[in-house]
Amino acid sequence: MKRLLIATGGGDCPGLNAVIRAIVHRASQEDDWEVLGSIQAFNGILREPTEIVVLDNKMVSGIHFQGGTIIETTNKGGPFSWPVKEKDGSWTAVDRSDEMIRKLKYMNIDAVINIGGDGSQEISQKLYEKGLNIIGVPKTIDNDLSSTDTTFGFQTAVQIATESVDKLVTTAASHNRVFMLEVMGRNAGWIALNAAVAGGAEVCLIPEFPYDIYKVKEALEKRFHHGRGFAVVVVSEGAYIQGGHMIYQENKEVGYKNKRLGGIAAQLIKELQEIGFQHDMRETVLGHLQRGGVPIAYDRVLSAQFGVRAFEMVLNQNFGKMVAYRHPNFVAVPLKEAIATPNLVTSDNSLVKTAKGLGISLGI
Ligand code: F6P
Repeated sequence: MKRLLIATGGGDCPGLNAVIRAIVHRASQEDDWEVLGSIQAFNGILREPTEIVVLDNKMVSGIHFQGGTIIETTNKGGPFSWPVKEKDGSWTAVDRSDEMIRKLKYMNIDAVINIGGDGSQEISQKLYEKGLNIIGVPKTIDNDLSSTDTTFGFQTAVQIATESVDKLVTTAASHNRVFMLEVMGRNAGWIALNAAVAGGAEVCLIPEFPYDIYKVKEALEKRFHHGRGFAVVVVSEGAYIQGGHMIYQENKEVGYKNKRLGGIAAQLIKELQEIGFQHDMRETVLGHLQRGGVPIAYDRVLSAQFGVRAFEMVLNQNFGKMVAYRHPNFVAVPLKEAIATPNLVTSDNSLVKTAKGLGISLGI
């Protein structure tokens, strides 16, 4: 019997369970494969006692439309920076990757599929360099991985953000207000840009294009006549004013490397008030609602495709690669290439041109 281990790492994302189910279903068509899941990314392997579960068809039955991940996840720590508490109460990060690889050998794990975003795939690449038979599957609502046309989870987040724009429009119009809808995406403005186009927002601010607050004011003023009017601004959590910086809180959680972004919608209201914009403004921070709940059909299909292909890459021993979608095909991309450059919005992107063509102000 051969053994495959699945891990889900980083933030949860709609479609994770659909990928797990697809891998398990495809593996069950081979007589000689058993699939295991590590609980909370690789923490399940590193913990004593080990926390793993057997994933069979019964276990994954009906999970394709469930949000989250049945094997849990984490965006803290990991095999290369395992947090250890010192005697004085402080924390240090310890590299436990060699120990983990030894443990996987001892457990007779023949291959690993790591489902995760940029941080998780960096871990995959480092483990591959240490000799582990590993394959990556691109997960993230941010859509910031460049070697795949799209990551699973992204379209569900766009759908949720778009429905939120639709809802805010009704209140904005009824109250003659401006609403700032803050969406996720970290350094990438894809969720904001797509939701602004789909929802018909007036302004869209993204991290790739620091905004000129006077241009934002100008675009909003155009929406008001004799005090009447309304507007919706979709602002990415990583957006910031020209000459300024992203708004974030330093994260003190042990092993958490990322800055916790958030607060730009409220900041934008202050900035507009400071330059004399007088209309009624409110902010809505969408936050983790974008990551929870059921994946839309598009993401379930994409997740199924990724899962089946990833297992077939295992069968073909195509290790050190990430499965990627390049319409209409699914291809295996070296992990090194997959993590080399992030997928960010550029000024020549067709959706940017479409947004401008629709009259959406990007604040530049
Ligand atoms: O990378 C996915 C993401 O949802 C980002 O859009 C966001 O900045 C971050 O994760 C939030 O992470 P956490 O769940 O740790 O707050």
